[in-house]
Amino acid sequence: MKERIRELLPELNWITDKVLQDKVVAVYEDALQKGGWEPDDMDRIPFTLNIPDVPFSYLSHVRGVTQMAKGGMDVFNKLYASQDPAYTMDNDTLVAGGLLHDVGKLLEYENDASGRTVRSKCGKNLRHPFSGAALALKHGCSDEIAHIIANHAREGDSGIRNPEAVLVNKADYMHFDSVKSFKGLK
Ligand SMILES: [Fe+2]
Repeated sequence: MKERIRELLPELNWITDKVLQDKVVAVYEDALQKGGWEPDDMDRIPFTLNIPDVPFSYLSHVRGVTQMAKGGMDVFNKLYASQDPAYTMDNDTLVAGGLLHDVGKLLEYENDASGRTVRSKCGKNLRHPFSGAALALKHGCSDEIAHIIANHAREGDSGIRNPEAVLVNKADYMHFDSVKSFKGLK
């Protein structure tokens, strides 16, 4: 299963710390097993249940958010960290956080008897930022990475996000809000 996860998420290779790469893969393996999914199901599960008939999968969402957040970080670091190194975003934290930000959805969602993806019992009790952060910590990811997962959605709106979490939050809504806009949804 680990090999297929790595094939489906090539952005894992952007994490320079190989030990952290392995931790992220272990989080995915655990979440897929707990949720009763195969790795390729990630490309079949809709990325949200809040937009009807959404054509984009969990996998394409997570990859897109990670790519957009990293693109933003690379521009930020090039322009601003070069002026003042105190304003340097951490590559590995951001990429791992981007890849894992929605991993809790693999527990939050399940397929019903007709094959439709619906909210699971776990998902009704714990939204994905909570379950995802717990899984990441269980596999030894840093507090900073768990912070990105815990705060990437509306749960983080009332606090102060770390810089990498700011970018993952924005990238997440770049996809979600743009798709809603295309569909004429508020
Ligand atoms: Fe997301």
